[in-house]
Amino acid sequence: MLNSTVLSKNFLSDGYLKIRPKNQKYLFEIQKIITNKISKTKLSKKNQISFLNNFHKFQNPSNLNDTRLKIYNYINSKSIFSKMYYEIVKEYLDILVGNELVMQNKINLSIQLPNDKSSILPMHSDTWSGDSPFEIVVWIPLVNCFKTKSMFILNPKESKHFYINYKKNSKKHDSKSLFNLYKSKFKWIDIKFGEVLIFNQCLPHGNVENITSETRWSLNCRFKSLFSPYGTKKIGEFFKPINIKPASVIGFNYNDPLAE
Ligand SMILES: [Fe+2]
Repeated sequence: MLNSTVLSKNFLSDGYLKIRPKNQKYLFEIQKIITNKISKTKLSKKNQISFLNNFHKFQNPSNLNDTRLKIYNYINSKSIFSKMYYEIVKEYLDILVGNELVMQNKINLSIQLPNDKSSILPMHSDTWSGDSPFEIVVWIPLVNCFKTKSMFILNPKESKHFYINYKKNSKKHDSKSLFNLYKSKFKWIDIKFGEVLIFNQCLPHGNVENITSETRWSLNCRFKSLFSPYGTKKIGEFFKPINIKPASVIGFNYNDPLAE
């Protein structure tokens, strides 16, 4: 049984939770769907991770986005994929977000080859580009991620300082020097395949050039409470409802008989 008080407290104080879901079988299944799509041979569980880590040895960087899109379209055409994604983290989302949810329609895939500058995501918060602050991100690594093969996040305490000084600092610094100003404060997420990261996307986060010798593979998907305020990304277009309760169905279908 999960301790909801401890999980909530840790999520609020650290800005993220690194969890080991009990449903490991779905994590392997997700990894298998992706590797089967691109590998010419069937791979064992052990070889799946090695294939992904060494992907840069057979992938031309100039075609990387085509490969990524091919996999992205494939995984998002299978409803079982998003069902498994949700099931992996359901018991944690029940605690952190609620049980009537919306989930991003399309799960994102990120592939970061070693020394490839084209897939850098500079420091940002998703809210800066219109996401609702009520959204959280579920980030699933398909390989072990560490150092520059992973991502960084600024904790809530440092983020408070960052935001208080943001107006002043953004006039004095370009995004690179703003990044350097806070560089020593970032938490670099060390996470293994089999674990999942749930993070607060209002906090500054991002990645840098992957200077390790392995390729990073990760998936990300946003969730929010059905009834919390929306940003520019709306239900129906960007989000799909999941786990809607009968009382909400009744409410959505109710027509006021006295309405004009
Ligand atoms: Fe982001």
